[in-house]
Amino acid sequence: MKLAKVSERQSRQYLRDITRREHAILTGRAAAGIWSVLRAWSLHDKVILLPDNTCYIVLWAVLKSGNLPLLVDVDRNTANLTVANLDVHRTAHPAVVIPCHMYGLPAPMKSICEWAKANGVKVIEDAALALGATVDGQPAGSWGDASIVSFGLGKIVDNQVGGALLTNDSLLADSVTKLLAELPVWDDRLMVLTNQWNGLYWPLHQYESQNPRLLDLYPQLFTLYGDLTAYQLTADDWADLPALLRDLPDNLARRAQLATLYDVLLQTDNPLILPSLERPMGSILWRYPLLVKADMRDELLGYLWEQGIHEATRWYPPLRPMTTALAPDLSQPPTPAADALGASIINLPLDADIDEQFVRRVAERIHAFLDDI
Ligand SMILES: Cc1ncc(COP(=O)(O)O)c(C=O)c1O
Repeated sequence: MKLAKVSERQSRQYLRDITRREHAILTGRAAAGIWSVLRAWSLHDKVILLPDNTCYIVLWAVLKSGNLPLLVDVDRNTANLTVANLDVHRTAHPAVVIPCHMYGLPAPMKSICEWAKANGVKVIEDAALALGATVDGQPAGSWGDASIVSFGLGKIVDNQVGGALLTNDSLLADSVTKLLAELPVWDDRLMVLTNQWNGLYWPLHQYESQNPRLLDLYPQLFTLYGDLTAYQLTADDWADLPALLRDLPDNLARRAQLATLYDVLLQTDNPLILPSLERPMGSILWRYPLLVKADMRDELLGYLWEQGIHEATRWYPPLRPMTTALAPDLSQPPTPAADALGASIINLPLDADIDEQFVRRVAERIHAFLDDI
């Protein structure tokens, strides 16, 4: 068997082992997995529930599948969906919910799946940021009708590109495999488009609340860049994945160690630093989420960038502005907790390639800022 094919086979086996799913299908990116499942279920014009603080590409996958995104607020203390917040939308007759383990912190999947079953709603678990986490005693990636994980740039397992779809449903696995095989193959054109889009989105989402007319651009941009939602990779793109998956336990141990160091070094009674997000048992961390008073968040972030700490980000911006622009027919009820989180979060780097010294420097700079204010 060709080496590249061996990498694919090994990766699938690792993923089945990690998530205890029967089928692991490699996808061009995680969003392609979401799109393909919605298409495989033949859903059209159906309401799909997603957290207001998830990645915009989840929204794009829902739109590309021909369905209607409805944003759900999250819990202020966990950044995740709750059954109470989902229940607000029961009367919208949703067909699917896409709960996400935000920042690697487990969403309450047991109760979400029970709620979904009782209401005839299908579940796609978004474990893009949580590969290796344990959720209500089970692996992330093992919940719901299907799950997705991502191996894209900056993800826990960073293969620069790629994702996977996990399910125990053989019929769904077959349909999804067929749909994915018809997607365009990742190539230089898609890479150029991706770079362009990343360059545009970063400033856009920063200024959209100050200048709402920028939202008028999103429909046009979605026409130009929407193809980035779903593609397939070539066999060669999977060459490094088995080694990265094999390293997952060490990768997670390093992250946990660095997160503990942040915990210790960032302890303060300064009222500008807000209580941290809850970290239930089984949590892993994608980035270190620091919550600060909203009215000084951008100032602190700007200061960190000035100090050369460009890896600090304010991800994820609330999806409401882009959703309102791209799906204007569906009214989006308020999502105050997600808005508050989006306004106060700073994601501190936790990548496998940063070390303790780096964490110390970040913490030192944050204290210098706080002392100066
Ligand atoms: C929360 C979340 N869900 C889904 C995705 C989709 O992953 P991908 O970029 O592999 O499509 C991402 C990443 O971009 C994400 O951050």
